[in-house]
Amino acid sequence: MAAPNIETITSLAKRRGFVFPSSEIYGGLGSAWDYGPLGVELSNNLKQAWWRWMVHERDDMEGIDSSIIMNRLVWKYSGHEETFSDPLVDCRDCKARLRADKLNYPAQDTRSIEEAIKQRAVQCPNCGSTDLTEPRPFNLMFRTAIGAASAEDDPSVLAYLRPETAQGIFINFLNVLTTSRRKLPFGIAQIGKSFRNEVTPGNFIFRTREFEQMEMEYFVRPGEDERVHQEWIDACFNWYLGLGLSAENLRFYEQPKEELAHYAKRTVDIHYRYFPEREDDERQWDELMGIANRTDFDLRAHSKKPEDAEGKRLNPDSTEDLSYFDEATKERFYPYVIEPAAGVNRSALAFLMDAYTEKINDKGEKRVVLKLHPHLAPIKVAVLPLAKNRPEIVQMAKDIKRTLQPAMRAVYDDTGGIGKLYARQDEIGTPFCVTIDHQSLEDEAVTVRDRDTWEQQRIKVADLREHLQKQLQVTSDK
Ligand code: GAP
Repeated sequence: MAAPNIETITSLAKRRGFVFPSSEIYGGLGSAWDYGPLGVELSNNLKQAWWRWMVHERDDMEGIDSSIIMNRLVWKYSGHEETFSDPLVDCRDCKARLRADKLNYPAQDTRSIEEAIKQRAVQCPNCGSTDLTEPRPFNLMFRTAIGAASAEDDPSVLAYLRPETAQGIFINFLNVLTTSRRKLPFGIAQIGKSFRNEVTPGNFIFRTREFEQMEMEYFVRPGEDERVHQEWIDACFNWYLGLGLSAENLRFYEQPKEELAHYAKRTVDIHYRYFPEREDDERQWDELMGIANRTDFDLRAHSKKPEDAEGKRLNPDSTEDLSYFDEATKERFYPYVIEPAAGVNRSALAFLMDAYTEKINDKGEKRVVLKLHPHLAPIKVAVLPLAKNRPEIVQMAKDIKRTLQPAMRAVYDDTGGIGKLYARQDEIGTPFCVTIDHQSLEDEAVTVRDRDTWEQQRIKVADLREHLQKQLQVTSDK
């Protein structure tokens, strides 16, 4: 089972403290969300899992953390100033702002979208009007100004918030190459915030104007790019499976030529079934991450070399040549780049949706159980005293929580009956609950309850920490 729709997760997320609407006390801000006590743990766990897999557990990877605001020239030469835009359309009747490329338009209609809009053959999805403006490009980069001037008065202060973390990696290619003494093939990974002034943000944390990316640029010899690209496509798919996403809710999507970004030779997206409630199967899916073959586009674009092989002038503003010299073959060339690019927020949403299950307890009541992978679960263990009016039991529970907390995220809770406490932990995905009862005072043992099976096991307090660590590991390695 998975969540029947995004709304189910949105309300659970707010009710239990995963994600809150941002600026809520001032009426909110469309598409901005704040991560609460459980959301920040989930998102940190997700980023750690990705970093461990992508950087620590490999021999060919380095990490960086570059700045969000960079020299404007980065975005000039990356192509973003010119091409990073969506076709914007306004409805003259209801004033809705729409993306022309997302308008519902019969696939068999051979007219271009511009043509169809002109001929009033496309309807506003909001009010049904056919009175739409012609599409015009709208650049998605957020503009800002550096220092005490405005960009309107002095264009030299214009800067952007980065719309992708990738460029911070490309402009540091030489720095990393020389300081780490790497040889091809190798990769550079980065996790960080990106910003896009999306025309139609929405669907909870699926599309927002501020979001977080986990990106890696893998540098290879030209000619090896296609094979390595395919290897990363498969590896990324398996990473999501390994962290618990179900295969039937994942698929590959080969981007058709007309959808490719300006830098890409081939891009394969991994789609998740974010909209299972939609009747039309095709509309149930949307992008979770993309894996692109960016060729040598970016390294070349940022290189100062006055001329390339065809005699074309390269970047007159750059001070560096970002080519690579192969000592073995004595060749100099621009490496090709394979880029797995995932969204933290979209991944968190997919994991939450996929983990959602409902179960009926022995009293016939419906319980929500969030079967998150233990690596991702915000809280690993909840310690619950069975009799909060017995100070020795309460003390023992608090002591146990303290011995566990250096090894795993543990919480103590005595604010309800045991049924309610278990239900609360199930709903937020806590893999284990530990209960301390009268017997515990005698035999120095506690009950460990499993989230997924609701089975209980008696464990000696002295063995508890190791037992839980082992269980968390075993379940994670499955
Ligand atoms: N460097 C390549 C790049 O940025 P992208 O497909 O535009 O590629 C990569 O973005 C991933 O970032 C997407 O697959 C998605 O998970 C996430 N992402 C992009 N725009 C987003 C948005 N507005 N809100 C949330 N996540 C977004």
